[in-house]
Formats: sequence, structure tokens, C-alpha cells
Amino acid sequence: MPPNPDPRPIALFDSGEGGLTVLKHAWDLFPGENYLYAADSIHFPYGTKSLNQVRDFLWAFLDFFMTKNVKAIVVACNTATAAGLPLAQNRVPVPIIGVIEPGSRDALRYTKTDVIGVLSTEATYRSGIYPRVLQSYRPTVKVVSVPCSVLVTMAESGQTQGPEVAAHIRQCATPMLEYNADVVLLGCTHFPHMQRLFSTIIGGSVHIVDPGLATARFLPQACGPLNSHGRGHIEFFTTGDPQKAVRVARLLWSNFGGVPHALEWQHHQLVEIKRSHPV
Ligand code: DGL
Repeated sequence: MPPNPDPRPIALFDSGEGGLTVLKHAWDLFPGENYLYAADSIHFPYGTKSLNQVRDFLWAFLDFFMTKNVKAIVVACNTATAAGLPLAQNRVPVPIIGVIEPGSRDALRYTKTDVIGVLSTEATYRSGIYPRVLQSYRPTVKVVSVPCSVLVTMAESGQTQGPEVAAHIRQCATPMLEYNADVVLLGCTHFPHMQRLFSTIIGGSVHIVDPGLATARFLPQACGPLNSHGRGHIEFFTTGDPQKAVRVARLLWSNFGGVPHALEWQHHQLVEIKRSHPV
């Protein structure tokens, strides 16, 4: 196996465990790459905060990634993408992509009724970014947006199955189906952790789009050829409790092999706390 020509890691960022749904697709497609995953667990959830606040968090993570010599950044969080992606592109000297554009393009490819349901956080919903992006590609498309914070919290704690989750999925999907949506876009990266249940409940009549897949597929276009052979490694940084974060990650992704690291907010900046965290 030839060595990876560019072993610098690809960074992914989310408020918590949600961005792992993007990382998993990237890892499946490009297992020879190295990844740095960062979760701002202490500020979770982002979806109930203002976009300005989330943007400030995003800037600090971009600065942290630059100290780690990353070769590309994926904002694996819809809320943070809505809060600051276009501006973020001018702040870092490496390619940076979000999940909203790739997911939207995928949704448009699948819809026949031209009605797309978008399930997201409150903040993404308030930003109006999905209708804006979807209609910029196809002005005739109708978008039925539904915010759902409860499902985000459930996924963050590792709860992705069972009657309670199912009831919330049904409740969120109902207005979309009433308006004849044939595509439901999971507009928060926490939701694909529940993809199996989404498919069981609404998968017969609608296509479910996980923007993480389209985002991972788009990576080589954004940052050049990537290694789809071999085996890289994953470093998992969190502003919360690293052991807990990795424990939940393993509930959500059974053979998750990320190595936990602690990050701390100090004067609005992120500082890595060097200690070992055996899990
Ligand atoms: N997973 C994130 C998103 O895609 C944020 C969820 C949250 O922290 O509210 O929007």
C-alpha cells in the first residue's frame, strides 16, 4: 500500500455527536485519510442558540483546526453552516465545506413532486437557509420546514430507537407528508443516527436524504484526491467529557475507533488539555 501522499487530517466540526454521521460516510469512502473530529459538547445544543453565538463558536474551532495543520474542514453541522459558512470561507487558507449545499443538491435530484420536507434545528429553521438554497437551484420547489429539537437531544444521548423516538418522527413527518413531500431531508446531522427508524416509518413513500453522504462524496472535489485504501486514524476532541463522548459515539457507531482528547474554552479560545483518557 503506498503511503498517504498528504497525511494531514481532515477536520470535522459539530456541537456534539451529530457530525459523526458525516464522518462515518467519509471514513467509509476514504478510510486511508486521517480525521480530526471536534465536538463543542459543552455548548450543545446549538440549535436553540442565536446564529451570532454559534458563529463565534465556529470561529474558535477554525482557529483551533489551523493549529492542527488540517488540510480541509467540514462544518458537519447544519446550524453552524447556516450561521457562518460563507464568511468562514474567507477566514481559513484551506478548503472548507458545509452540509447544506451538497444535501440540497441531492434532495433536488430525488424529488418528483417538487415538494421537499426539511427537518432541522430551530436555529437552522429560523435562518431560512434551506428554502433559500433549494429555491436558488429550483425556484418552483416547495419546502416544508419543520424544526425538532427533541430528536436532537435524544440522538446526542445515544437514544435512536424505541417508541418515543418513533412518535416524534411521526409527528415531524406528518405536515411534510400532508403537503405531498416525496423527499425528506435530514437537515441536522444528528438525525441520520435515526435513519433506520426514519426509513421504517416514512421510507416507503418518501426518499430520505442524509446530507452527510453527499458531503463526503463531494470532499475530493473540494480538497483534491483522497485515499480510499489503507487505514487512517480518528482523533476525537470534545469540550465536554471525552470518555462520555466516546462512549456515546460507540452507541451510535458500534466500531467507532476515535481516540478521545479534551478541549477547554479559555477566554473564548480553545485549548487542548494534554492528558490521557483511557476508555
Ligand atoms: N448537529 C447540528 C446540526 O446539524 C446541531 C444540533 C444542535 O446542537 O442543536 O444542526
